[in-house]
Order: sequence, then structure tokens, then C-alpha cells
Amino acid sequence: MKTKFTLFAFCAMLSAGVMSQTIKSVTEPLPGPQIINVYARNHTLLNGQWSMLIDQYDVGYMDYRGNVINERGSFFADDGFSKHPDRLTEYDFDTADRLEVPGDWNTQMPELYYYEGSVWYRKLFPFNPQQDKRYFIYFAAANYEAVAGLNGKKIGRHIGGYTPFNFEVTGGIKQGENSVIVKVNNARRPEGIPTNHCDWWNYGGLTRDVMIIETPSTFIRDYKIQLAKGSYNQIAGWLQLDGPDKSPVTISIPELKIKQTVTPDADGYAQFTVKAKPKLWDCDNPKLYNVILATDKDTISDRIGFRQIETDGSKILLNGKNIFCRGVSIHEEKPYGMGGRAFSREQDMVLLEWAKEMECNFVRLAHYPHNEQMVRAAEEMGILVWSEIPVYWTIHWTDPETYANAEQQLEDMITRDKNRANVVVWSVSNETPRGAERLSFLKKLIAKARQLDDTRLVSSAMEKEYSGPSTVTILDELAEYVDLLSFNEYIGWYDGNSDKCDRMTWEFSVDKPVFISEFGAGAVYGMHGDVSERFTEEYMADLYKRQINMFENMPQLAGTTPWVLKDFRSPRRQLHGIQGNYNRKGLISDQGQKKQAFYIMQEWYSALKSRY
Ligand code: GCU
Repeated sequence: MKTKFTLFAFCAMLSAGVMSQTIKSVTEPLPGPQIINVYARNHTLLNGQWSMLIDQYDVGYMDYRGNVINERGSFFADDGFSKHPDRLTEYDFDTADRLEVPGDWNTQMPELYYYEGSVWYRKLFPFNPQQDKRYFIYFAAANYEAVAGLNGKKIGRHIGGYTPFNFEVTGGIKQGENSVIVKVNNARRPEGIPTNHCDWWNYGGLTRDVMIIETPSTFIRDYKIQLAKGSYNQIAGWLQLDGPDKSPVTISIPELKIKQTVTPDADGYAQFTVKAKPKLWDCDNPKLYNVILATDKDTISDRIGFRQIETDGSKILLNGKNIFCRGVSIHEEKPYGMGGRAFSREQDMVLLEWAKEMECNFVRLAHYPHNEQMVRAAEEMGILVWSEIPVYWTIHWTDPETYANAEQQLEDMITRDKNRANVVVWSVSNETPRGAERLSFLKKLIAKARQLDDTRLVSSAMEKEYSGPSTVTILDELAEYVDLLSFNEYIGWYDGNSDKCDRMTWEFSVDKPVFISEFGAGAVYGMHGDVSERFTEEYMADLYKRQINMFENMPQLAGTTPWVLKDFRSPRRQLHGIQGNYNRKGLISDQGQKKQAFYIMQEWYSALKSRY
């Protein structure tokens, strides 16, 4: 007789004093190398309704002594096979509730609004695998830790809430009905990336697309095709095959009449350069070329733009032309009060259209890599992107696993988006406290970013410091290692009142472009009052005017990304009647209403547009 997994079971465990067991002997394999440009491949989306089980004590994963269960008894092994009358089974995916995938769980079930822990997902799906093909299950993201299983067997584990990962399932995926099970745990961890304290909602779950990818036995897994660094008449690139054959690969860009064949080395890797003078991608003409890579077994095509991004002293040069980054910071949260993680092109387009309406040519995708469609949509719209990993606030700088996690997330971010012309900044951290261990940690990350991709700018959102009563500068040792002097400042909000902006002078000892990665103030849309009253639209608008006046007198300024496009959820924002779990610094309310400050930014950016 099968009994359902019940709260009673939890209480029984509780009484046995099995609380707060740490998980021992974790042995699940790590994901395979990331496959890029997956939407251009043969893929079967597994989106839709998945069965779900809330497992606050991980009883489906470890025994009451904290040992990982690797055979029957774990939810992986027993799924669909628990029809054993002689055995107590205390869960039932068949009769369980459902969650929509992709999507965070917090905004799908009231009881999961604040939930932090494990949720099990199961999807039954028909499949018809072909003999000479390979199959991978690909997760565009799962926040924060995922352990996946297919047809009763665990296939691997991934940590990191905002980057893609895939496991090969060739031979495991079968004819007819298949069962994929994933345990996602969004518990915040002090040693995590991000750590356990951050100013955004901890949306958990399978927050982006899940799919099965089909490839030939040998396929083109990864490639980079961009203008050679510093050149306007040479395209340089490399490609990586995955599989036994090392047959020649042809790279074609028909519109440029390019067709070049290269022979990969014994590891399936090949580099190439080709003479070309492509029409350059830029914000006004976001030109993309159809690029096709093909072997005798595999063909993959991508739309790639060609441009140069560099700095010259305090200038940012796009294709050699001095630009001002008219930006805005964006959290990946759905518009119009839906709340929850944005994951679709439609939701992304709303956010990007708002940015465009504010005369932006740049977005800072904070504080973690956003979904791939967001980056690609911005590329098609001519919007430059700053992309970052969530090395945020107080990280465990001396923990080697924490560093490895940060570096893996950096690598996965760069791997996925390195062919996107509009991505011009990789940022390694946000508002991290200065110190020797932190500097060592971030210097290594910066070196890794440059090793993976030396064609883009590397940055970090540092913090301002006072060198006099109203003289501000950057003393952060990191300034020597990054390409932009980017920092967050909240003069007039956390630091004095708005009129303090009028008294500031700025001194920079490093001749690099200055980039204000955050400034702003909170306001409730529609709340009006005296300009001195915080949280009124008038206070926010007045602060923005004074900030802009301050910027007009700031040396070396090359870009601003005010905090933030839209009000967003954060457990840190509790002021009743004003915040209600929302950070109210949005230029647009969570309902999509534009505050007065939106129009002040729009006016300034419109004027800047004509000055560059
Ligand atoms: C910080 C931080 C943001 C946060 C903001 C705020 O600068 O980088 O993540 O939301 O301040 O306090 O609103």
C-alpha cells in the first residue's frame, strides 16, 4: 500500500531529532562542457506543468543520519517504481501538485512565497531517440543548486542560480515514456555565490527553459567568432568539436562571401582568421550576419555582429567612436506586477522597450547573468550590455570552493554570450568590501575573464570614498586591474540629503572612463509631497536633477546606469505602506507606471544623445 508523502512524515522525522543534518558523501557528477547556441539546435522543450513535492528536510535525498541515499528510497530511484506493496513509500509524484516550468516557485504557490529549501520536480515525456544521435538535457538556469535524474538514475549536480548547464543522457533517454526528476534547493549559503545576504528576492526553482538537445555523434559544441582584437578587417575565431570525428569544419558568412574550411586538431579544436570588412554593429545599426559552421555531420548557424570596444584614457570607444553609455540597471523580474523571474523574450522585450523609451543605449543586467533571450533581444535592438556574476557584498574570500564557484559562473557566463556583439562589459563583483583576500580573489577572476575573452572590457561595481569633507574619489585597489572606474554612489539617499549632491567635487587618480554603476532614490509611484519628503516622487525627481547636475561637472564620466529600471522585490524592504517587500528605487513602478524621475533621465539622455 502506498502512502503519500505527508507532513506527518516530516513531524516524525522532526521528533527523531534529525533536524539540521548536513549532507555527507555527495558524489553526483558535474555537468559536461556547456553547449552554446542551443536554440538553434534540434531541441525538445520540456516546459509546462511538472509534478512537484516540497521537501524541506531533503528526506527524498538523504537518510535521517544525513547520508545521501544512492539507491532505492531516494526520490530519484523510486520515481514511478514505488509500486512495492512491501515497502513504505511516502511520496507520490502522480497525485502531487504541479508547478509551471520555466518559472520560480515563489510566485506560483502562496506557501512558497518565502520558501527556501528543496523542491522536487518531475516531468514524464515521450521520446524517440535515434541510433546515431547524442542527447543532452539542458537547463538554462536553476536557482540555486540542482540535482538531476533520468529514468530512475541520478545524472549530476549543478550549483549556481543564473547560468546554463547540461548533462549527456545518450543511452539513458529511451523510446517511449521517460521520467526526469530534479531536486532544486534555493537555500542561501554564506559560502555561496551570491552569499546569504543580498538585496533581491531569492526566487527558487527551474527558473528558465529545460530542454533535450539532439546532436550528431560529433558536433560543434562551442565557438567564438568576432573581429580580431583591434582590427576592422580581420575576423578571428576558434571552434571546438565534441565527439570522435575530427573532420574539417567550414565557416561561412554568405553576405561577406566568406567560406573557409579548417581542420581541427586531435582535441577537436581549430582556430582561424579570415580577411573581411563587415558592416559594423553599433547602437544605431545593430547589424547581424548569418554565420554557418558545418562539418559533414553537423551544421549550426548563428547571427553575429562585428564591432570593436575599447577605452582610450577616460573615453569608451565603440568602433573607434567616443560614446556615452546612457544606461539603466535592470533586475531580471517580470514587469506589470507579475513578480517572479523574467524568462521569456516577451517579458524581456517589455523591460528593454522601457529602457529604449528612456533613450538608453546600454543596460546593466544586475546582479547575475540574465537569460539568453534578454541578451539576444538587446543585441537586435542595438542596446549595449554589462553582464555580471553575483559576487555581491560579503563573499567568503578565502574559501577555495567559493572561488571555484565564482570562476565557474564567470566562465559559463562568458561561454554562453561571448559571440554577442552588444556585450561589452564583464563585471566580476558588486560593492564588495576592500581587503587583501577580496583583492586576491577578484584579481584572479579578472585574469580569468581576460584569459577567456580579451576583446571586452572588465569591470566591477566598486564603492566611492571621501578624500575630503565633500571631495569624493576611488581608493579601491581594484581600480588598477579593471578597465572602467565604475562605482555605486547614493549621495542624497543613503549618504545625506539631495542637496549634498550640489557640494561634491570628484577626483580620480586613474585615467580611465568613470562609470556610475548605481545611483538613485526610492519613491512610491503616485505618492506626492514636499520635495524634502523621502519616498515621494518629488524627492526622487529632485535628487535625479541634482545628481545630473553633479555628473555634468564630473571629470572622465563615460556612463551611468541608475538604480533601477523597475521596483523589484526584496525581503530587506519592509516599510509598511511604502515598500511592502519592494525596493522602490525603480524609475518605473512594479505595475509599469513611470515616475517623474523617469522623464528627467529621459530628457538628460536625449540631450546627451545629441552631444556624442
Ligand atoms: C546597492 C546594491 C543593490 C541594492 C541597492 C539599494 O548598491 O548594489 O543591489 O539594491 O544598493 O540599496 O537599493
